[in-house]
Amino acid sequence: MAYDDLRGFLSTLEKEGQLLRITEEVLPEPDLAAAANAAGRIGEGAPALWFDNVKGFTDARIALNVHGSWANHALALGLPKHTPVKEQVEEFARRWDAFPVAPERREDAPWRENTQEGDDVDLFSVLPLFRLNDGDGGFYLDKAAVVSRDPEDPGHFGKQNVGTYRLQVIGKNRLAIQPVPVHDIALHLRAAEEKGEDLPIAITLGNDPVMAIVAGMPMGYDQSEYEMAGALRGAPAPIATAPLTGFDVPWGSEVVIEGVIESRKRQIEGPFGEFTGHYSGGRRMPVVRIDRVSYRTNPVFESLYLGMPWTECDYLVGPNTCVPLLKQLRAEFPEVQAVNAMYTHGLLAVISTRKRYGGFAKAVAMRAMTTPHGLGYITTVIVVDEDVDPFDLPQVMWAMSSKVNPADDVVVLPNLSVVELAPAAQPAGLTSKMIIDATTPVHPDTRGNFSTPTKDLPEAKDWAARLQRLLSEARG
Ligand SMILES: Cc1cc2nc3c(=O)[nH]c(=O)nc-3n(C[C@H](O)[C@H](O)[C@H](O)COP(=O)(O)O)c2cc1C
Repeated sequence: MAYDDLRGFLSTLEKEGQLLRITEEVLPEPDLAAAANAAGRIGEGAPALWFDNVKGFTDARIALNVHGSWANHALALGLPKHTPVKEQVEEFARRWDAFPVAPERREDAPWRENTQEGDDVDLFSVLPLFRLNDGDGGFYLDKAAVVSRDPEDPGHFGKQNVGTYRLQVIGKNRLAIQPVPVHDIALHLRAAEEKGEDLPIAITLGNDPVMAIVAGMPMGYDQSEYEMAGALRGAPAPIATAPLTGFDVPWGSEVVIEGVIESRKRQIEGPFGEFTGHYSGGRRMPVVRIDRVSYRTNPVFESLYLGMPWTECDYLVGPNTCVPLLKQLRAEFPEVQAVNAMYTHGLLAVISTRKRYGGFAKAVAMRAMTTPHGLGYITTVIVVDEDVDPFDLPQVMWAMSSKVNPADDVVVLPNLSVVELAPAAQPAGLTSKMIIDATTPVHPDTRGNFSTPTKDLPEAKDWAARLQRLLSEARG
């Protein structure tokens, strides 16, 4: 099932019991964010939240926690809601192989219904804005997809980027944006600023659920997010032409904001409660001038609570970080079996691999650190043997505790790039990175005194089923 817009997905979530409508009146702050925060604390299967009775707002329609459980993530991919997380990651990886799937251009985008232009642009009249964490410096649009083109090669469809970059509302027609230097939009902005030009952008809010997944996905620089969305949906992604910039934007978005990142201007942005479970500080960031807003009648404002994991953000960027890393590593090292980079947006990754020869596991770990995502995030890599499941943390702990001799198996590489938001970096943006090789040494690495590993007995699987049957009979 491929969803062309957020509304279609919300109605499926409701039918599946995965959307909760809160009908009694709530306060914009702290109720909206507190409810989304709480959704991450009530256990597996948390629903999306819908609010339309918010004190002080007329006609507010707010959706929160839309991807905020494995059940909702499965439904976003058109899978049954009880699909186990490991199967979701495997299915994601299978669908990746259909890339690229050309998008389908449509004319009648619903966001064409209403327009504000020039001096009439007033975001406060379109969106029911509210703060997320109590130390945030202002209102944020944190689940938008931002479209920009390579100023050196604007006609290249693959180099047109669609990415999620949080935006602070700093005026009725002004935003501050945080382009992390390793991300594609930072490359676009740098190229524009070197020429002394503004960078045109289109910001789309309230997107279909697969668009939200690909916008936060670390793909190659010239790979198109729309062509990846098509592969993941199993159907071409519907796109439309944005009226001011002429950029390709999702057909079904609730709101399309167009304007420019003003060349060489910076303004204080933040603080903002981040995916690391810590606040960013107030920092000087580029500034967006909005020239046009197009929006559906009664737009749904979709926002995402993030902070101390797990929150919606961790579900959203879980599989979409693991699978690109797996595919990018396998392109050179087909021995790689699986990647679990679901902790704090992949600041830590666990990789299982077969080994060609002694030292191979460390080479795989170093390559992981130079993938698009690894450059700015992966700080610790734990490498395990091919028969250890990176998603089974007790197995990973077994490998760490039984295979690692710290003298040679722990490697620290100094002064590598990391997002400024990584709290342990010193200075911000630079960190040491660590490889923990928890694999069994192979020739010519003869260290250790590893005897034959014990394996589960061949009959144990049948016995597990038998024990479960007997247990359920005994319990009635
Ligand atoms: C909710 C959310 C907020 C994000 N905020 C930012 C941000 O402010 N700046 C940034 O550079 N990346 C941010 N990211 C991460 C990028 O979207 C992600 O790493 C993506 O792969 C970048 O793709 P790119 O290299 O094509 O730009 C965010 C991701 C999510 C899911």
